[in-house]
Amino acid sequence: NRTPFMAGNWKMNLDHQQAISTVQKLAWTLKDAKHDYNAVEVAVLPPFTDLRSVQTLVDADKLDIRYGGQDLSQHESGAFTGDVSGPMLAKLGCAYVAVGHSERREHHAESDELVAAKVAAALKNGLSPILCVGEGLHIRKAGEQVSFTLAQVDAALNGLSADEVAKVVIAYEPVWAIGTGEVATPQDAQEVCGAIRARLAELYDADLAGAVRVLYGGSVKSGNVAQIMAQPDVDGALVGGASLDAEEFGKIVRYQ
Ligand code: 13P
Repeated sequence: NRTPFMAGNWKMNLDHQQAISTVQKLAWTLKDAKHDYNAVEVAVLPPFTDLRSVQTLVDADKLDIRYGGQDLSQHESGAFTGDVSGPMLAKLGCAYVAVGHSERREHHAESDELVAAKVAAALKNGLSPILCVGEGLHIRKAGEQVSFTLAQVDAALNGLSADEVAKVVIAYEPVWAIGTGEVATPQDAQEVCGAIRARLAELYDADLAGAVRVLYGGSVKSGNVAQIMAQPDVDGALVGGASLDAEEFGKIVRYQ
């Protein structure tokens, strides 16, 4: 009962004109392939400066492609130079927003507490957070990937009701597999995605755990996506580099 979900995180790539051509090309590619958006949901996460252009295109062409931000402020408005709020993203028609991506945690020192505040801010504004979690290489080498990642999940969901968590998407992205070409094995992905789902059952109940989508992210490409999607607890992928090429991302979306 979990609809597979493929999301492209463009990171700091593609200006608003490139965004229009990329989304157009993705829509054409998927139309040619007679893609059923109800069978596999598709979203892109462009830079903030692209979102208005993407909204205009999606509305004009009535596309079934969803979109969202890569981050949001924990605040609603005010003196926070450079930040973008949940209400602003909601007004642009965003369905999703990435929260706690490892690049935000690393380069912007985002703590678990801040990530939790951002998850709450997203939900408050009707946005589904794509909560990113995952361990770095030293933690993987120490064999502590499950406990580390579950601690991030616990912290980010702290205080949320089951109804709220039902709207969250969790993306397991081992930091050592991001942008490195070093893809986690399907078994690695399943181990942690399965542990995340088991934790949701502990924190809430089996129904909720069975409903929340858990994605894998880290060097996903058309050539490795099928094996990853074959894992029982992997419901989709959060794709970085390979999502910048509409044809390649289209192939990832049609992984079957
Ligand atoms: P890559 O697919 O480029 O490894 O990036 C993964 C990622 O960080 C998606 O959020």
